[in-house]
Amino acid sequence: MCGIVGYIGDKNASDVLIKGLKRLEYRGYDSAGLALINGHLDIVKGKGKVLNLEKQVNSQKLTGKIGIGHTRWATHGEPNDVNSHPHLSQSGKIAVVHNGIIENYGALKKKLIEQGRTFHSETDTEIIAQLIEEIYENGSTHEFEKALQFALKQIVGTYGIAVVNSDEPDKIYVAKKGSPLLLGIGENEMFIASDASPIVEYTKKVIYLEDGEMAVVTKGNYEVKTIDDVTLTKEIHELALSLDAIEKAGYPHFMLKEIFEQPNSVADCLRGRLRLDNHTIQLGGLVDVMDQLVNAKRLVIAACGTSWHSGLVGEYLFEYLAKMPVEVEYASEFRYRDPLIGEGDVLLVISQSGETADTLAAMREAKAKGALVLGVCNVVGSTIARETDAGVYTHAGPEIGVASTKAFTAQVVVLTMIAIAVGQQRGTLDDAYAAKLIEELNRLPGKIKQILEQNESIKEMAKLFTYAPNFLYLGRTFNFPVALEGALKLKEISYIHAEGYPAAEMKHGPIALIDAMMPVVVVAATDHTNDKMISNIEEVKARKGRIIAVTNEENTEVKELSEFFISIPSTEDCLSPLLTVIPLQLLSYYIAVNRGCHVDQPRNLAKSVTVE
Ligand code: F6R
Repeated sequence: MCGIVGYIGDKNASDVLIKGLKRLEYRGYDSAGLALINGHLDIVKGKGKVLNLEKQVNSQKLTGKIGIGHTRWATHGEPNDVNSHPHLSQSGKIAVVHNGIIENYGALKKKLIEQGRTFHSETDTEIIAQLIEEIYENGSTHEFEKALQFALKQIVGTYGIAVVNSDEPDKIYVAKKGSPLLLGIGENEMFIASDASPIVEYTKKVIYLEDGEMAVVTKGNYEVKTIDDVTLTKEIHELALSLDAIEKAGYPHFMLKEIFEQPNSVADCLRGRLRLDNHTIQLGGLVDVMDQLVNAKRLVIAACGTSWHSGLVGEYLFEYLAKMPVEVEYASEFRYRDPLIGEGDVLLVISQSGETADTLAAMREAKAKGALVLGVCNVVGSTIARETDAGVYTHAGPEIGVASTKAFTAQVVVLTMIAIAVGQQRGTLDDAYAAKLIEELNRLPGKIKQILEQNESIKEMAKLFTYAPNFLYLGRTFNFPVALEGALKLKEISYIHAEGYPAAEMKHGPIALIDAMMPVVVVAATDHTNDKMISNIEEVKARKGRIIAVTNEENTEVKELSEFFISIPSTEDCLSPLLTVIPLQLLSYYIAVNRGCHVDQPRNLAKSVTVE
């Protein structure tokens, strides 16, 4: 979703800002812009890619030592040049870039118009610049910093903002409520960004702002305070992120790189946590809360999108291995229906980015009601990771492709480890089976590698289905969530309509769609449901649907019934989602590439959805 970058120092700010905006492209955006202070404000902005912005900046030969930049993902007002950020105040002296949503912008705008201000855009952001200036020029203070604080107190909603004022050409003001913002501390220079990716090549020293905080940033210095003007001493964190991890390393797309990273990302996620000597699981982040989790009255899992799918796999795992009843909720639905959750209950939230607004809101709701809140996050230091009571990092490394791949497998690995550990403590998992699962988890990176060796044949198969208008994905038990995930991957990057269904449910509706044009991807584990799955395949074939099966080499019956077959090494059924999902990621990837789609930045999508 929208991205913010800011710079103040001796480098050419326009170069730093453009480079930073390119690093933020993965978040998803439709327009880009920047403001430089050169006595007055130089503004360049417009609909389209950062590359267009760069061309404009170069053709105008714009340079400077201080500036702010933005990639916009439209919420209020269509993506066009006028609605792009930065937005200016009436005098043109104040420029604002903003992530988030101002909920009371209508009322504020009406008042500002009555006060004689003219608006140019349809955005909620423009009111921030105008409101600050109204207070600064005609209000109770002529101190800019105070005017900013007063304005922020009138605003209802979420924001991460960076503000410059040409009257104060050596300062950038930033503030945060609900949308992430961090400061990067360099040698006699400072950076601002909505995530670490634009900062990491310059400095590893960062400060994370919390809600209700602001900062006044000057060259090589900063002051953090609350918007009530209480000065704060903030901890300086060391970024673990490396520059290599956020570059493509020779792959044509981040998505393909991330699919191929999975043998390593799964190994990284397991590292130090699997004890092969005594067949136990060590999760340092849960040690203090393990008793509460093991004895929880209820376990609720909340997440969005792909993370919700991994939560569904988690439900099957917890029920199977730990015999715990689990509910899996869309974070957005959970949050808004006054959920029945309280003391003695555990809410486990799952989020790659750790910034998803709906998940964050669900987590805060459950916390306020007294539940223990646990997190499974990928981004270290993210808001969800910081605000949960305890949790486990997935250690998958930065995921830049908008379509989540390695984060999903790492999430499922973490959920499997938690379910095993809880099962062992609850006495629901016998020692021999626990040992078998732990040994098998350790073998998974090698098995994922074996699947990736089928890359070329999956690429060939994708050619045959590139122009299919629809796809159906069917799975049962542990692989029903994989069917959902396969369908989501395909639709988000190739824009082909796809549905994931529990295989048996097909006959209650989707079967009406099946004809000779319909590819049906069958994710078939060899568990006790295999015979039933075979019947479902027969039902599809009877209607001339085209079967693509993902299952074990030994599953000869399924193999013989299928037009196409992708083989998966044998594993325990409950671990099979970690393997069956891999070919589905590759299939979606190649279909999207064949269709000429922008795989890493699909239309309308954002990597980190920071608005509710
Ligand atoms: C799909 C995808 C999204 C995210 C969802 C949650 O490929 O990436 O569906 O899974 O927006 O994001 P996180 O996990 O960051 O909370």
